[in-house]
Amino acid sequence: MKKTDTTIILAPLQGFTDVTYRNVFSDHFSGVDEAVAPFISTMGQMRLKPSRIKDVDPENNKKLFVVPQILGNVAKDFIFLADHLYEMGHQKINWNLGCPHSKIAKKKRGSGLLMYPEEIDTFLDTVLSKISNTLSIKVRLGRRSKDEIFKVLPVLDKYPLDEIILHPRTGLQMYEGTPDHDAFEKTLLCSRHPLTYNGDITDLNSFYAVQKKFPHIRRFMIGRGILSNPFLAENIKQIIVKKDQIERLKDFHDDLFDSYKKIFSGPAHLTGRMKGFWSYLASFKQSRKPLKNILKTNSIAKYQDMVKRFFNAELEFNK
Ligand SMILES: Cc1cc2nc3c(=O)[nH]c(=O)nc-3n(C[C@H](O)[C@H](O)[C@H](O)COP(=O)(O)O)c2cc1C
Repeated sequence: MKKTDTTIILAPLQGFTDVTYRNVFSDHFSGVDEAVAPFISTMGQMRLKPSRIKDVDPENNKKLFVVPQILGNVAKDFIFLADHLYEMGHQKINWNLGCPHSKIAKKKRGSGLLMYPEEIDTFLDTVLSKISNTLSIKVRLGRRSKDEIFKVLPVLDKYPLDEIILHPRTGLQMYEGTPDHDAFEKTLLCSRHPLTYNGDITDLNSFYAVQKKFPHIRRFMIGRGILSNPFLAENIKQIIVKKDQIERLKDFHDDLFDSYKKIFSGPAHLTGRMKGFWSYLASFKQSRKPLKNILKTNSIAKYQDMVKRFFNAELEFNK
């Protein structure tokens, strides 16, 4: 398969892949073609949360094409938000039917709605006749059982969809176990919609394994794999950048830090957000100790000191 046939979509990761991350990432790395933004919840009573809307404002999202994602199960609230997004310029939106968290799932949102195909049917029947955006859906195999999807697919087949993005685990599994490739394959056979693969692509080997198993899949969504190795999409697409990887990572980090510094008011907020990224940066194992120390810091000065030590250790190691 030609590398250009492959589309890589940055997964929505609430608390990580917001507009700041997406823009800074795009300034430093290539290979990612588009992104789905972390979910915006419907609010009811014609209300919108400005900070969530700002995240997908096309004015701030010129570097990487972004599809806003909506979490909700009340048709009229979904339509209100979808209309607002359309007026902002979003012709495509995504519906979250995959969120595994029990607080959300209990309210029949995210993966919690997968047990109720009739409700999905009624919802789509109402929503798709009213909205001007086109819709894609991000799903898991089910809430409790991997079979639930097979009752949902005939419902989805009734409606026009851009694509189905499938993370082949159940909601209850959260991120435990391995993604079920056989169930993904069965889904491919049972749906008329184009499918995008999502789940545990963390390095070239896992990418090639998925590609080999599903040679007709062209679109791959990657989340944690990109957080832990921001070079992954470039590697998959065989994009060669001559500059040293650690220097590039450092430049990326410094930009991300500066950008969040402008946004977050409190120091704990800033270090907390940055430490979140470090907890995923597992692909740089040479400097385990400095890495652990970064995660323990609780002031900006200490954080910056530990980050400096980490990069110095990495640069020294690579000499
Ligand atoms: C911290 C975190 C936040 C997430 N937030 C969202 C979200 O807002 N919307 C969504 O559809 N999925 C969300 N997910 C799921 C991811 O988009 C993705 O489906 C999952 O991580 C599996 O892909 P990966 O193995 O490539 O990371 C989240 C996952 C994590 C770990």
